[in-house]
Amino acid sequence: MAARILLKNLQLIINMNTKNIMTGRPKLDKVLQDLQKNPYFDKYSRRIAELQSKNPDELVRRVEHQEAKIKKEKGPSVISFTNNTIKAKLILKCMRSLDLHLRYYATNAYENKYISTPIFYVNSGPHIGHLYSAILADAIARYNSMREDKVFLSTGTDEHGNKVEAAAMNSKLSNYEYCSKVSNEFRKMCDLFDVKYSHFVRTTEVTHQETVQHFWNVLDKRGYIYRGKYSGWYCISDEAFVSENDVTETVNSFGKKIKICEESGNPVEWTEEVNYKFQLSKFQNDLKYWLKNEKAVRPSKFHKILSKWIEDEYILKDLSISRPRSRVPWSIPVPKDNSQSIYVWLDALVNYLTVLGYPKNEFKEYWPPVIQIIGKDILKFHGIYWPAFLIAAGLEPPKTLLCHSHWTIEGKKMSKSKGNVVSPFEAANIFSEDGLRYFLLREGVPQSDGNYCPKTVQNILNSELADNLGNLVNRCVGRSLNPLGEFPQPKGLENVLQSEAADKLKKNLESLNVIASECYEEFRLHHAVDATMNTLQSANQMVNYHEPWKLRKAINNPEACDQIKAVISLALETARIAALVLYPIVPKVSTNLLNLLNVPRENRSWQDTVPTYLSSSEKMETKNVQNECLLFKKIRD
Ligand code: MSP
Repeated sequence: MAARILLKNLQLIINMNTKNIMTGRPKLDKVLQDLQKNPYFDKYSRRIAELQSKNPDELVRRVEHQEAKIKKEKGPSVISFTNNTIKAKLILKCMRSLDLHLRYYATNAYENKYISTPIFYVNSGPHIGHLYSAILADAIARYNSMREDKVFLSTGTDEHGNKVEAAAMNSKLSNYEYCSKVSNEFRKMCDLFDVKYSHFVRTTEVTHQETVQHFWNVLDKRGYIYRGKYSGWYCISDEAFVSENDVTETVNSFGKKIKICEESGNPVEWTEEVNYKFQLSKFQNDLKYWLKNEKAVRPSKFHKILSKWIEDEYILKDLSISRPRSRVPWSIPVPKDNSQSIYVWLDALVNYLTVLGYPKNEFKEYWPPVIQIIGKDILKFHGIYWPAFLIAAGLEPPKTLLCHSHWTIEGKKMSKSKGNVVSPFEAANIFSEDGLRYFLLREGVPQSDGNYCPKTVQNILNSELADNLGNLVNRCVGRSLNPLGEFPQPKGLENVLQSEAADKLKKNLESLNVIASECYEEFRLHHAVDATMNTLQSANQMVNYHEPWKLRKAINNPEACDQIKAVISLALETARIAALVLYPIVPKVSTNLLNLLNVPRENRSWQDTVPTYLSSSEKMETKNVQNECLLFKKIRD
């Protein structure tokens, strides 16, 4: 409501002013709309309106100054902004030059995209849940790269804290040796499964430790850290204080009454200590502004959860961001106070800045992250603490947190104690790396838990990758139907086949690129796969309908020849487009298929997912293809 009134004021003042920076009414409306989308709009609109009314010349001067500066900085690429976006940015920049401590949002002004995975705890090795976080990020990164954005993908390992130290102790290695060993397993997992990271960070690296300490100093200088006393229920295994409401009483195996954390089931103990606190309570409004944008947290289920949490004063209480060093020695010390260790979550979250070289200016090239992938168990840390820390440090919070649910094993939570942890390495021995990627990304739905069951994996891979995709390609490139190994280019052949089956396929094929890109943009990867599989199925039906193997017998009949060519051409065109659309999901299988079809590297971007027969270019030459291929080996019992 307040925002609406302010918006009206601003509109009035801008309209009244003769030296108006915006000319036409529609333009003004659009700029205001853009501004309104900014979560901090209502915070600053009064100031702009004030400046506009008191000193319009000054406002115009600042806008012009910023305009000139942006033009100089960005050169001709400014043209790619809409005019209104530039104006919106300019006004936001003006607000900043008013020293308003502004955290502004740019509207898709840059094509650089920073995407991150959470960093993995090294207290145990990788499992398929970790792999899922990593390949989800990788698939989204690959899709954006295909759209020709410059993508930076970060991942790494989270190596501090008591749990890690305890695991190191068990392994009889030094803390650092142990961390290196497990960190390498995560790196190996990423490499093996084609998670194409730009930077793999380790929180035990000196650079990261320096970045964390620098970040601490920034928060401190800005006045958000104070020394305080903390008392509460502390859960050693979870390394977190637990709210009174989440503590419950139970009886242990010795019949003794104990308090436990309701969520994790781990014991808690009453703890009183002196430590440093972060003024989280001051950021409730900022978090609300950030969450005003529905895209800030996806899917909407998690946006709703977070929106409730930020109303909870207990959750937004000032946060302890250090622990006595005696209690958590395996961690980064607080600058200038060796008696305290930095809270492991503050340490871990800062990894997202370390990888970009923060505080060096170069980090701005990719800041803020466009998509941060996280699991539902770490939503509070990323949806409350992280944006609050960033805003406190004068940095923009992430544009989108993509929160996914968990994998269960045959309906049960994965846990070491249940002995049901699935190693990605072992699963890949049976299903292959791309097979596992395919299953997890095809069956995983961010909003609800997925179930991993080897029989289901086998069935899905056999029917979809081996049969639907593999068989289509095999029969069209095989010697019996295609002795010369040719991919006749579809342009000019697209109307040879007069059948419902061919029409249906063309319809599917022509819409696949739009449907799939919508799915990727909205993080519904499983729907992108569905649409591709439907199209491949139509292609198989088209081949079955035209029975080209029978036409081969009438090889001297030119019409039959044309028909065979047209069937092969349309089927392989479907395979080509399917390979491109599936590339973010199964990069190895797709690359093999594109190589087999002789598709040049420069023709493997998203814009190539449109059927070539629709393009205005000249008829293309027939291409040679390999006669034999094994795209995906059927998995036997
Ligand atoms: N170290 C923290 C993250 C710090 S990020 C600044 C952490 N590490 S973790 O190794 O426990 O989890 C890493 C990712 O794996 C998280 O996104 C988590 O949700 C995900 N998964 C862990 N178990 C999972 C499943 N069973 N299923 C799917 N993903 C799960 O949390």
